[in-house]
Amino acid sequence: MLSPIPYGSVFFAPMEGITDETFRKVILKLYPEWDYLACDFLRVPAAGAYPQKHLLRHFGNDLFQIPWVREKTMYQILTSKKSFTDMIATQLQELGVPWLDVNLGCPSNTVCKHGGGSFLLTDLVSLRQIIKGIRENFKGRFTAKIRIGFQDTSSFEDSIKLLNDEGVELITVHGRTREDMYKTPARWEYIARAVQLSQVPIIGNGDTWKPSDIDRMLKETGCHGVMVARGALKFPWMAQDYKRGQFELNQEEHLKRVKDFLIEYQSHMENVTPRGILKQSKSISRFMFDDVEDGPQMRRKLLLSQTVPDFFNVVHSL
Ligand SMILES: Cc1cc2nc3c(=O)[nH]c(=O)nc-3n(C[C@H](O)[C@H](O)[C@H](O)COP(=O)(O)O)c2cc1C
Repeated sequence: MLSPIPYGSVFFAPMEGITDETFRKVILKLYPEWDYLACDFLRVPAAGAYPQKHLLRHFGNDLFQIPWVREKTMYQILTSKKSFTDMIATQLQELGVPWLDVNLGCPSNTVCKHGGGSFLLTDLVSLRQIIKGIRENFKGRFTAKIRIGFQDTSSFEDSIKLLNDEGVELITVHGRTREDMYKTPARWEYIARAVQLSQVPIIGNGDTWKPSDIDRMLKETGCHGVMVARGALKFPWMAQDYKRGQFELNQEEHLKRVKDFLIEYQSHMENVTPRGILKQSKSISRFMFDDVEDGPQMRRKLLLSQTVPDFFNVVHSL
């Protein structure tokens, strides 16, 4: 039995291609102030099961061995009405996963074409079956992450009620529809509405770009906690600054943190080819220079690096 999630908790959001085991190891080491983490989604197969070792690898073999890390990390799945969701829920239960989260927000065309991710918000009959099936087969903490709708918000209130009725224990609300993608400002008023409607805690998500936004979201929406995605890619230290009340950062300190982060990241990439190291290091670094003077030039230099030593020469010169 997991202990309840305290009010004001900050969550590092699941992000495909980013929040793998290596990335989470770095976050846990440098910025343990994040109360909760997430691994990106595991696609539930449309036929058959995955070998247990595949499910374990998705979480990360090393981190899974550490009970307190296992307990603060949501294991996210992405499913559709045709997928073998009950089987995956059972397998995750048998593996000893303490926390399963279902992704009802993915906007990808392919996923939605197959009736998965945010599309399920338009098909509440299938959604109910899926949620019921998971609840019956998975005894640990069961949570959901939703958008506020697909094309519009007409199913929003019913979705929140459905998740409550079928035993979901916490709901993260990303304040955009699928149609909104990432473009418009997130609509926090829907997070506030979910708080009014829901018996279970609501975690707000969308457009928290600086530590003060976390406070603002808690106050303006009444949500129980805040999940940060792109803001946490720009500032992986945001939870630390938030908890220390440090709301401004000078450029020198900012660059030092970027440098320390990238060096730490590389040190965790064992058994990865140089090509893989370069690709992943570029991928995580591209977000970190947005708010830095001369940031675009620094980013350009890093992204043009052809080899790992080239890349880290630039990092050391920051
Ligand atoms: C690169 C990237 C990958 C993402 N992958 C996932 C994912 O695997 N699962 C998920 O639930 N949401 C995913 N999201 C959505 C975020 O978790 C979050 O809901 C969204 O970015 C809004 O929050 P923000 O305004 O703080 O960025 C992803 C977002 C980005 C930018």
